[in-house]
Formats: sequence, structure tokens, C-alpha cells
Amino acid sequence: MANSPPSTDFDPERVESFVDRHLQLSALRRTCPIAHSDAHGGFWLASRYEDVAAVAENADNFSSAKIFNAELDCWEGGTIVPALPMRFIPSETDSPEWDRYRGVLNSHFNPKAVEARRESFTAHTHALIDEHIENGQIDIVLDIGNPLSAIGTMSLIGFPLDDWWAWAKPFHEITYHASGSVELEKAARDIEQVYDRMREAIASRRTRPTGDLLSILMEQKPVGGPLDDGEIFDLCVQLMGGSIETTTALIANALMYLDTDHVARSRLKEDRKMLRSAFDEFLRYFTPVQNVARRVTAEIEVGGTTIGAGETILMSWASANRDEDVFKDADRVVIDRSPNRHVAMGRGKHFCLGSFQARMMFEVVMNAVFDRLPDYRIMHDNAVRYPSIGNVNGWVKMPALFARGEK
Ligand code: HEM
Repeated sequence: MANSPPSTDFDPERVESFVDRHLQLSALRRTCPIAHSDAHGGFWLASRYEDVAAVAENADNFSSAKIFNAELDCWEGGTIVPALPMRFIPSETDSPEWDRYRGVLNSHFNPKAVEARRESFTAHTHALIDEHIENGQIDIVLDIGNPLSAIGTMSLIGFPLDDWWAWAKPFHEITYHASGSVELEKAARDIEQVYDRMREAIASRRTRPTGDLLSILMEQKPVGGPLDDGEIFDLCVQLMGGSIETTTALIANALMYLDTDHVARSRLKEDRKMLRSAFDEFLRYFTPVQNVARRVTAEIEVGGTTIGAGETILMSWASANRDEDVFKDADRVVIDRSPNRHVAMGRGKHFCLGSFQARMMFEVVMNAVFDRLPDYRIMHDNAVRYPSIGNVNGWVKMPALFARGEK
């Protein structure tokens, strides 16, 4: 009788605590680094740093592509488990399609382009804080992280800002409600309305270019010809979806941590240059994007286990980032950790397009909080984590108190 594969009951959607999730991942790294789970149609889970990095760096054998199967009327492949009924581009494409999309985006997210946006992100952050500074109470997620990420990305793309909240809220809610829940169905209906507005904005920009990213994307001539409205829409969905909850999750987890470690908080407040290493360490420790999947293109061995063509492998960035063979004191936050080769922004060709932008936003928010809400205290009893850590390790809400100040 053939040996059954090493198995795990790991399920990205299972409701469990952050600590329990890491206990499970730590046990897997030690005893069963490539394990099979039957959840969501079945997938392999890679938990060691070395294996995760090897998969991420080998885009030929591990495909990100998502393809619509017209016969079965469903999407197959892609990077998210459980699969969403849509395709993100560029992340759910392989070369040469991937080159077409990254080629038109890269120059808008390089350090110089991002630095040019710092002033406007700072102004937006202070305007958001002004709305609450006289009350002495603010929600880190709902009043700072989510709005700033949404407003920042929407203004860069060229979407109207007059009712940004109606755009930001569905991106927040769709990320954390459980699949199959009534709440998710409602969030999906709300996001469809946002998608309609995105399509309208794209159509109107065709006739009235304004110099924003939408207009620029329409003028580009990548290999294969100009982008059509459908491609521009899919790119915009990824820019919104990829930036809003991820950056919010990082900021919220960092501020939550600094509410409990006052030594680290004082060090960062006094030495703002240390925000650079703290950004990487909070990314490593909390890993806002916990897992990403690939589909195996031809039978291959990973960490000593043979995986067949067509099977799915889930890379646990969260687990790789706690691998004791790579990170000393992996379960401790060390704000000046160096070196810090974490994989929280991915690895290989699909490495996060928005990494510089996320760093800039983190620095802007931290500086604004240290300057204007220096004594903030999280209301722990009212702070709510996502029901499951799922693929994004974020917070539903995180109210905080602080000494009132002036606008
Ligand atoms: C703390 C914040 C963020 C985290 C933790 C994060 C994490 C990640 C990760 C892990 C990947 C790799 C996916 C893969 O290998 O399949 C990725 C890709 C991507 N991210 Fe981010 N991200 C963040 C912020 C942003 C922002 C601000 C933007 C855009 C404004 C963005 C846009 C993208 C895009 C477009 C991709 C796909 C890149 C490709 O496939 O070539 N991300 N991100």
C-alpha cells in the first residue's frame, strides 16, 4: 500500500488565535515542512523559509496564472486559497503576460515616484487626524489606516475622492468576512457597486485624459498593444485590493504592539530613523499577507516531497518569517533587527509592486501618531481582530484614546 502523504488540517480560513496559528506553523516546520491539507480542494503547505523561497523564486515550475475554465464555468489556479471568482493582474499572471502589466506599472512605484507622493500622503494623514484630535478618541483602522490607504491609492489612480468612504469600506469588509457568510454576500454586493463606479471612471477617462495613472495607462503601448478597459479595470482592482487592507494591517499591528512595549515606542519616537528597520521587523513578525499559492506546472520535488503537475502549493510567508534557522529570536519583535531577509513582501518576480509605497505610508503614519497622539492607548476590550487570520492578518477596528489636541 502506498504511503499516505504527510498531512495537516491547516486551513487559512479557520478561526484561531494568532498565537495558535504560530504554534501550528512552528510544529509543521519541525516535523512536516511540506504537508498536505484537504481544505478547499486540497493543497500542499510549505512552511520552512528555504522551501518557501525556492518556490517563490521558481516562476517556471510554480505558476501564478488564473484561467477561466468555460466548460466548468469557474476560475482555476491563481494565488489565493480559497479561490476568489476573479483574477488579479499582474499577480495572477505568468510571463509573458506578467511582463506586459509590470512593465506599465513599475515606474509609478519606484522610490523616486513614491517619494514624490510623501507630501500629499502626509497632508491626508494630518487631515484625517484633525477630524478626531479635539475628541481624544480615534480608530487606528477605521479612521487612519483604511482611509489613508484608500484615499492614497484612489488619488494616485485618479478615482474621485468625494465619497471615498463608500469605496474604502467594501474593500475592508470583503477581506475579513468568512466565505459563505451573509456578511460576505453583502460586502460582495457593495463592492460590485464600487466596481461599477471604477468602470465608469475608466470609460470617462478615455474621452477626458487628466494626467493621472488611469490616463497614463491608457497612453502606454506595451508589447501586445495598448491596454483595454477590462485590463485597466483588473489592474485597478489589484492596486486597491493589494494596498488597502495590507498596509492598514501593518499599521494597526505595529501600533497595537507599541501600545504594549513602551521601551520600543520611546526608542522609535526619539530616533525616527529606526522606523526603517522597524517597518521590516513589523512586516516580518505580523506578516500582513500570510500565504500565497502557486500551481505546479510539472512534477517537482520541494523539501524532499514530490508534488505532481497541477497540484497547488501554498507558501506560508508567515511561517517562513518565523523560521528559527534564519531569524534569531524569531518569536520576538526586535525593532532594529539586521539583517532581516523577511519574505513578507514576497520573493522573486512577483515581489510586491507597492513595497516602497507601503514603507512611505508606514513612516508617514508613525511620524504623525508620534507627533500628534504621542500618548495613545488602545482600547483593548473594543479592538477586534479579523474573525480568521485567513490570508490577511488584520483588524476590523482598533479604537484608541489620547490627550486632546488642536487641529
Ligand atoms: C504592508 C503592505 C503590503 C504587503 C504586506 C504586501 C504583500 C505582498 C506580497 C506578499 C506580494 C507577493 C504576491 C505573490 O508572490 O504572488 C505582493 C504583490 C503585490 N503587491 Fe503588495 N503588499 C503590500 C502593499 C502593497 C501596496 C501599497 C500596493 C500598491 C499600491 C501593492 C501592490 C501589489 C501588487 C500589484 C502585487 C503583485 C506583483 C506581481 O505579481 O508582480 N502592495 N504584495
